[in-house]
Amino acid sequence: MRTTTRNEMKRLFLLLSAILLGIGASAQDATVRVHEGGTGTLIPKEIYGQFSEHLGSCIYGGLWVGKDSPIPNEDGYRLDVLEALKKLQVPVLRWPGGCFADDYHWMDGIGPQAQRAYISNNNWGGTLEDNSFGTHEFLNLCEKLGCEPYISGNVGSGSVEEMAKWVEYMTSDAKSTMADLRRANGREEPWKVKYFGVGNEAWGCGGNMTAQYYGDVYRRYATYLRNYGGNRLYKVASGASDGDYVWTETLMKNVGNRMNGLSLHYYSVINWNDKGSATDFTDTQYYDILSKTLGIEPILRRHIEIMDRYDPQRRVALLVDEWGTWFNVEPGTNPGHLFQQSTMRDAVVAALNLDLFHKYTDRVKMANIAQIVNVLQSMILTRGAEMVLTPTYHVFEMYKVHQDAEYLASETICGHIDTPQAKRPGYGPVPEVDATVSRKDGVLNVSLVNTDLHREKKVLVSFDKEGAVSKVLSARILTSGDVRDHNDFGAAPKVAPKAFNGCRLTRKGIEVTLPPCSILVLSAQ
Ligand code: AHR
Repeated sequence: MRTTTRNEMKRLFLLLSAILLGIGASAQDATVRVHEGGTGTLIPKEIYGQFSEHLGSCIYGGLWVGKDSPIPNEDGYRLDVLEALKKLQVPVLRWPGGCFADDYHWMDGIGPQAQRAYISNNNWGGTLEDNSFGTHEFLNLCEKLGCEPYISGNVGSGSVEEMAKWVEYMTSDAKSTMADLRRANGREEPWKVKYFGVGNEAWGCGGNMTAQYYGDVYRRYATYLRNYGGNRLYKVASGASDGDYVWTETLMKNVGNRMNGLSLHYYSVINWNDKGSATDFTDTQYYDILSKTLGIEPILRRHIEIMDRYDPQRRVALLVDEWGTWFNVEPGTNPGHLFQQSTMRDAVVAALNLDLFHKYTDRVKMANIAQIVNVLQSMILTRGAEMVLTPTYHVFEMYKVHQDAEYLASETICGHIDTPQAKRPGYGPVPEVDATVSRKDGVLNVSLVNTDLHREKKVLVSFDKEGAVSKVLSARILTSGDVRDHNDFGAAPKVAPKAFNGCRLTRKGIEVTLPPCSILVLSAQ
């Protein structure tokens, strides 16, 4: 009798718990289950890399105004942009292109500025390029920002000799004509240059080569890129665009460990013939771009599968050295300058991409959003002396807590939003909630995205162990009344992060209600 009663009590207790848990679960729109035990995998800070090209006003007017400019500057670099970029902790900066790289002859950009060669920028609108920003100006900028330079060498129209001498000029501490030329131009000590790209988009603007041919060309050029003194080059081969798996397969087979990294380019564009407005779009177009952005995941997986077959030890990294949104240029601007605005839509795209890259860092070691200032999905826009920080800038600033932090595995259980792009092969519906969880110096950093434009989301961040978190230290949110909101010249910023005090610590974990279309980053202990 006693045993029966105890069993019944137990069953009743289990039933009640199930009901209570059920109520609890249904009270949430999404649950992020965090495995706080840890993976031991770090999110390389280079995932937060940037890209600068001689294109439109990225360099001239954006980063560089010259010493004589009325715009406040430090040695020719505009001060406002410099200060804003310092706050991002830029880990690595790619330069001088892009397509421009395979038209760039570095010797045009050294020596007294007034005597430098001037050319027409044939890739980007035929604009006059006076080469006043060259090797010294770029490498000194990297030193000011405290970031690694990532140089793209010219394979398309340059020679092996030209590329080899460039490396010698920048990095040799020996007595040689190239090193002495650098000294004569005012730089005694060699710079440290780690990342060196052997060409860019070799299948297109970088020479229209076949994969087989480029593989051979890469081997030849890379042979003469020497390590001078203590400098160690990390050589990057020009990789595929989107799902060009044959390119990856051919290079892995023919080049293999002769490269340290293989690049991949993927832009969030639905229709290359009419890319749509950056600021005037429908809700459907918003979800379509998110679906397109997330379409990089199966593409990454297939490139990684191929690389795994040839390089199971994962010595060769995959570097997504161009990514981001690409819309029609702002009305009235030069079509060759790729100047576009950035809205909350871009912020969500940035957050989803970063979340995704974090998952694949055992192979993906770097990503460089295109581009840093005034081109495509920029961090910063400038007009004359004015500067605005874009919503994308704010995502990079809020997410910097994940740089070099330990990645914690998590699963997000949530609904999905259907959209026409999701029906295309390789794409899918958009998760309503997305997340990354990392840990650094004993602090847990959780970033959460609500992609839903119209509904708030109650999210529970739960942990394997009850009591894994005892206090929320801080939280900031990026959101705005309308997904089309952006920051414009001459107006108060509409999109900027704000302190958020709606995180509730409960027995189950951290509970938070995310407003529609919002990005939250919280720290907890
Ligand atoms: O980022 C703009 C251009 O896109 C780059 O120059 C090129 O590499 C890519 O096609």
